[in-house]
Amino acid sequence: MKNEKIVLAYSGGLDTSVIVKWLQEKYGYKIVAVTADVGQGNTELEGLEEKAIKTGASEIYVEDIREELVTDYIFPMVQSGAVYEGKYLLGTAIARPVIGKKLVEIAEKVGASAVAHGATGKGNDQVRFEFAVKALNPHLKIIAPWREWEFKSRSDCINYACDKNIPIPVTAEKPYSIDRNLWHISFEGGILEDPAREPDKDMFRLTCDPQDAPDEPESLSISFDRGIPYALNGEKFGPLELVLELNDIAGRHGIGRIDLVENRLLGMKSRGIYETPGGTILTFAHRELEQYTLDRETYHYKETVALKYAELIYYGLWFTPLREALDGFIRTTQETVTGTIDLKLYKGNITVKGRTSPYTLYNPDMATFEADELFDQKDAQGFINLYGLPLTIKGLMNKKKELNYQEVAKS
Ligand code: ARG
Repeated sequence: MKNEKIVLAYSGGLDTSVIVKWLQEKYGYKIVAVTADVGQGNTELEGLEEKAIKTGASEIYVEDIREELVTDYIFPMVQSGAVYEGKYLLGTAIARPVIGKKLVEIAEKVGASAVAHGATGKGNDQVRFEFAVKALNPHLKIIAPWREWEFKSRSDCINYACDKNIPIPVTAEKPYSIDRNLWHISFEGGILEDPAREPDKDMFRLTCDPQDAPDEPESLSISFDRGIPYALNGEKFGPLELVLELNDIAGRHGIGRIDLVENRLLGMKSRGIYETPGGTILTFAHRELEQYTLDRETYHYKETVALKYAELIYYGLWFTPLREALDGFIRTTQETVTGTIDLKLYKGNITVKGRTSPYTLYNPDMATFEADELFDQKDAQGFINLYGLPLTIKGLMNKKKELNYQEVAKS
């Protein structure tokens, strides 16, 4: 074995177990397995260290990055309002840059010369991991076994594992691919590749079927400080705890299921199903508070920024100058996004009950139909005349043309 080390993004599943062995055989590297705890749950994390070593890794790092994921990635995303193609709350996409960052940090710490990952050659995840690595340490070599080896399917991997005596994880085969973290769970591929086919009822993990949700609505208030949620029903929560608590609450009301045919970065359309319970509520409440506190032009402009921000996250362009520059804009807009949104949760739906904010620009004296002193209705006439001047000019021209035609037609 060479003394060169490679850091592998390791999940303990079939693919990455096979990759450990394959990398050793093909490149002769020492394998440093790295598993990021992004909230995928204990069943995925249990016994990982032993498994990795048994499979042939020389060491393994299991890094709990949940807090960092929420504070430095998810909450800024919520502040931005990013939603990809109108539906997808970017749960997989937002976790990739921070995992990539950990891979680089550990590669530098152990003196590795390369990093590897188990993402396939058709998906978005390969791009996101590799963009993170390129941005943070372009000297690291990147190896993506799925783009190099001859295996085509799960059974090819199982055969190789049997040949090489690789202990393969004893998880039941899933009829689709799953990616889970503290923000969401995604399902795609396999039987879901038929967009006409409704997913099985028992596929979902984080939300109940809205039909089976309680018959009584539940009230919930969320408080934000400069766009960051910090309390539920008046009780303070740390960032991670707040997201986990919201997942529970939203999940039992069947909130946050999405079925989407999305455009992948590599060009094809793909069908994905997502559960983002807490995230759906947070995104909803945050937007509600912005509508209450931001001035019209900033709010409208921010909507276009949100589209771009979503694209940047989806495309893996987190560690870029544009994302940082947009963050500057977003941070400024959030200075007055402070207040509380009261919601009602009921069978998959969220409705607003009320809002309060010390910074609201909503002024009952302005909107009222009663007589008031701040607003003189006579002013509206001048406004309409001037703002509508281009329409008047165009209208005059059209009328003149009509007359000309009529005269030509007569003669
Ligand atoms: N289509 C989603 C995205 O690109 C989810 C990807 C899920 N990844 C996975 N390895 N199962 O963000």
